[in-house]
Amino acid sequence: MRIAHISDIHANTTPSFQSRFRNLLESVREQDVGHLIITGDLADKATCEEYDIVIDILNDFDFRDGKTLTVIPGNHDVFPLVYQSFTFHLSTLREEFRREPVRISRELYRVLRTYRKFRPGHYRNALRYFTERFRFTFNTAHAVGGEETSGFPYIKHINEEYALVCVDSNFVSPHIKMFLPYALLKYVITKDMFVATDSPICSNGWIDIDLLRKALTHPSMGHKKMIVLIHHYMYSKQQVTRYMSASFAKTMSIVNRKEVIEELSDCNIECILHGHWHVTEEYPVCNGDLRALNGAGVFQKNDSRWNLLELTTNSIQCKAIKL
Ligand SMILES: [Fe+2]
Ligand SMILES: [Fe+2]
Repeated sequence: MRIAHISDIHANTTPSFQSRFRNLLESVREQDVGHLIITGDLADKATCEEYDIVIDILNDFDFRDGKTLTVIPGNHDVFPLVYQSFTFHLSTLREEFRREPVRISRELYRVLRTYRKFRPGHYRNALRYFTERFRFTFNTAHAVGGEETSGFPYIKHINEEYALVCVDSNFVSPHIKMFLPYALLKYVITKDMFVATDSPICSNGWIDIDLLRKALTHPSMGHKKMIVLIHHYMYSKQQVTRYMSASFAKTMSIVNRKEVIEELSDCNIECILHGHWHVTEEYPVCNGDLRALNGAGVFQKNDSRWNLLELTTNSIQCKAIKL
């Protein structure tokens, strides 16, 4: 069985996105792939139009049900909705800022403080919207989580030997108070207070360990080999500093990465598929006990690649296909 893994297409409404995405799926089709996996950030601002475009193109290429398509959400699929009223508030302030900079600065500070608190209810609604849009891909999934998490994590038995464990890693634990320091840092870099506030606390990841364990030890798993789908990466400190500073990495990583890896190491995991940091590559996790594939470099300038997985009874062969 052949599986394609892509990630972070960040859909927008421009014709250039549509042609790039069609181009990518054309390349996937050429490799005679039976199943497509997308590990999050399908949309960029999580608008209805972005999802319409993505779903229409996927359907055009016959990725129309859970047998052929599996998706999980990335931070860009949920947080624009979580902070919808916040960004609306900001856009109105932006218009008035030129006329009354002092009053609006004070107002902006008040708004920032109000939205600094993470709101689980808003998160649940945003995740529900994502799963509703991709309902057609969940017809073959077994929900392990309850309504609170829109069923996440999900299990999909893709054949006799392999099962997918589909995790939502975006719910940021409420004790992370990165918002004001992060906004301040962005302001220092951009000197634009509105840019500084456009991405509140939403790039970190967190995984519910109890739910993850429930999925990994689910009675239906038997002796199956598992492929775990997570949006956030598994890079160690050393691996991640190839790409970014340690302080920036703190705003991007899974905050309970250690526990997640401990949990995965105890199980029959064949590989972890993810995105979030925009490169396509394979790397070892936990001194090679686990194997991770990042598929987020699909639209990288000069080096666009996606992951082709060949599943055999004994192992998974993987190669990155260049566009
Ligand atoms: Fe992304
Ligand atoms: Fe992301």
